[in-house]
Amino acid sequence: MSLVKILCCLLLIYHLNEAKKIKGKRTVSREQRGLLKAKGPYVSSSVFRLFVEGEDNCTVDPLQLHTLISCGFNSSNPLIIITHGWSMNGMMESWVMRLAAALKTSLTDVNVMITDWLLLAQQHYPTAVQNTRTVGKDIAHLLHSIKYPLKNAHLIGYSLGAHISGFAGSYLEGSEKIGRITGLDPAGPLFEGMSPSDRLSPDDADFVDAIHTFTHERMGLSVGIKQAVAHYDFYPNGGDSQPGCDLQNIYEHIAEYGLLGFQQTVKCAHERSVHLFIDSLVNKDKQSVAYRCSDNSIFDKGVCLDCRKNRCNTLGYNIKKVHSGSSKKLYLKTRSRMPYKLYHYQFRIQFVNQMERIQPSLTISLTGTKEESADLPITLPENILGNKSLSFLITLDRDLGDLMLLKFVKAGDSQERTYFCATTHDGQQVEVSQDKVFVRCKENMPKQQRRKDNRPVWAPQ
Ligand SMILES: *[C@@H]1O[C@H](CO)[C@@H](O)[C@H](O)[C@H]1NC(C)=O
Ligand SMILES: *[C@@H]1O[C@H](CO)[C@@H](O)[C@H](O)[C@H]1NC(C)=O
Ligand SMILES: *[C@@H]1O[C@H](CO)[C@@H](O)[C@H](O)[C@H]1NC(C)=O
Repeated sequence: MSLVKILCCLLLIYHLNEAKKIKGKRTVSREQRGLLKAKGPYVSSSVFRLFVEGEDNCTVDPLQLHTLISCGFNSSNPLIIITHGWSMNGMMESWVMRLAAALKTSLTDVNVMITDWLLLAQQHYPTAVQNTRTVGKDIAHLLHSIKYPLKNAHLIGYSLGAHISGFAGSYLEGSEKIGRITGLDPAGPLFEGMSPSDRLSPDDADFVDAIHTFTHERMGLSVGIKQAVAHYDFYPNGGDSQPGCDLQNIYEHIAEYGLLGFQQTVKCAHERSVHLFIDSLVNKDKQSVAYRCSDNSIFDKGVCLDCRKNRCNTLGYNIKKVHSGSSKKLYLKTRSRMPYKLYHYQFRIQFVNQMERIQPSLTISLTGTKEESADLPITLPENILGNKSLSFLITLDRDLGDLMLLKFVKAGDSQERTYFCATTHDGQQVEVSQDKVFVRCKENMPKQQRRKDNRPVWAPQ
């Protein structure tokens, strides 16, 4: 196990260090922008394929536009172009087809195209990075030569593919911009801290969104970019890493994928961005909502669960395209597998004249009109004296309906229970930003004795 762990770290550090060495060598050349108008036939380094359901995908030759029609391209429908990232083995990763199929199935009248730049991607990381501009230009050239209405185009790029999509957008500078670019965990090394013209940025399209899933830092670098690069930047589970993607899970992955399981573990959190996006297409009734917050530690206090003034948005395909000036950072928690959605609640406990010591660890369970939750562990600070208000975040994987009863169980042998009942029985769901007050009650608690005169108030959101 530890050997595998070290190998894994070496692998990452090796590539990241190599990336560091050439940092700064790349220069932005403004003249490159004019290249679309260059004379002579344009030679594309990338191959474009239209996704055709139930058949082999169909290769499009940008110089022979009739191949588009024979591939079933319909220019009155939206066009989505999926672009992969860096490649270690020169193979198209399986998520590409899964995403293409999910788009085609859930959106029906849509053209789904795949950029194949494997030849330029299966290189040392820094070389692959240098090739991203070339591929961006290939995409820009394709859109330009088929005279496709740019506002109907949506580029979805993973890792290096996110920056490629951004470059495509900047090569198409003109009166009209690409409609939307989605960056799925945009690559970090050699892009972090760069100027907006050297990476994916909000200027590259009318609307840009990004999902950051693997920003865990090692040697000062992270696989996914940490900084905000879009109009809306989502940081599921803080963006650092993802549930189910710990190195401890490597045995599970090896059992499931054989030796490929090793690679699977390394990619797990990075690729989660793709699966969160697929989730938003296939689980229409379970759309994950994320909330604006200054950072993840504040989010963990549960204080950011507010949807007023566009402070929340939907993760994935169905995002609300509300135009906003600067980048907005949004946070949410997810499950470790599909469907990823979790329901977020803020709990605020108000202690009034608390005099005695409180058991710091206890579990809480919630009973709603639909279901009862499992026991959720919570930890209180050691000393609570006098008047104090505590706030924390609780997530549940099911919608319990209207919350009616909270049960607290103290850790330890006594398993002492305390109940709090809703003060209103209005039969209404607790809306976002709406408080609901719970007071200590005797319901279902025959042995429970009333304690001091502290009446905690429970405010779920
Ligand atoms: C497209 O079809 C070819 C031939 O069947 C296959 O090798 C390839 O993996 C498919 N997908 C992509 C994205 O090229
Ligand atoms: C293109 O799609 C539209 C619907 O979005 C449809 O009405 C039209 O017939 C399609 N054209 C072709 C050639 O299939
Ligand atoms: C706590 O608040 C109550 C009223 O809400 C007040 O009577 C009491 O003096 C306060 N105690 C402290 C220590 O501030």
